[in-house]
Amino acid sequence: MKIIQYLCANLMIGVFDSGLGGLTILKSIRRKLPQYDYLFVGDNARAPYGTRSFEVVYEYTLQAVKYLFAQGCPLVILACNTASAKALRTIQQNDLPLLWKERSCDTMPSPQLRRVLGIIRPTAEKTGDFTLTRHVGILATPGTITSCSYPIEINKLYPDISVVQQACPMWVPLVENGEHNQSGADYFVDKYVQEILRADSLIDTLLLGCTHYPLLQAKIEASVARYATRPVRVIAQGDIIADSLADYLQRHTDLAALCTKGGELTCQTTESAEKFSQAAGLFMKEPVVAQHINL
Ligand code: DGL
Repeated sequence: MKIIQYLCANLMIGVFDSGLGGLTILKSIRRKLPQYDYLFVGDNARAPYGTRSFEVVYEYTLQAVKYLFAQGCPLVILACNTASAKALRTIQQNDLPLLWKERSCDTMPSPQLRRVLGIIRPTAEKTGDFTLTRHVGILATPGTITSCSYPIEINKLYPDISVVQQACPMWVPLVENGEHNQSGADYFVDKYVQEILRADSLIDTLLLGCTHYPLLQAKIEASVARYATRPVRVIAQGDIIADSLADYLQRHTDLAALCTKGGELTCQTTESAEKFSQAAGLFMKEPVVAQHINL
């Protein structure tokens, strides 16, 4: 393998989110594929993305993708549903072909191998396995909900599934401000859970369509137990995405061979490195020393 002649030692798998939520995906991916090196970037300074316009989410996400490529990541996972809904397609169709031509860094042997993957399609693909009643609820940011990406993707694969959506604009701020484990969070958890259960009493599956929401999962499950009239499963995306990435890398052996395998994790944030390290360390259950970056 010719990798040795290139300047950058680590060709990491890039994982991007607006903030801390992407760690819920990263944790599952690292559990499944511990051999790879990872670079996590959280744009905490500009989170939440979920209430921002299409143009702004696209612009911020493209900046992050370019940054991760420039750091030597051949593969970038948008561990953010909002970015996957609003920016992924344009980046894959319009920007990626231009970025393949660009030798902005000397670290990447074959820029044409660069790839950007989202997390909505793989989640939609698994949805049919979870529901018996064929009534599914999506809890996500306002951006993801208005894009209708989930109903569109799920119904392409499972036309028989009825999909109900609920925007939960207060949940990401609760997580980003470290309030998700406090009793005050219960009010907003109950509010959106009650609304979606009221909208369709046949729902037996609630998909957490925002990577921040697994940090509220215990409260969401407790709320569901209080208000649901039937058993309802609450599904987080982490393991689905990890399985889907493992499968992708098995099918894309050139790309898999390129990604370096030292088991290292680097975390970067556009906000305070100290604050991020603390929150990330608690969640990842390992010491995290983040670096501050500007995108
Ligand atoms: N965690 C992201 C998602 O999955 C975005 C949250 C936000 O910044 O609003 O949608």
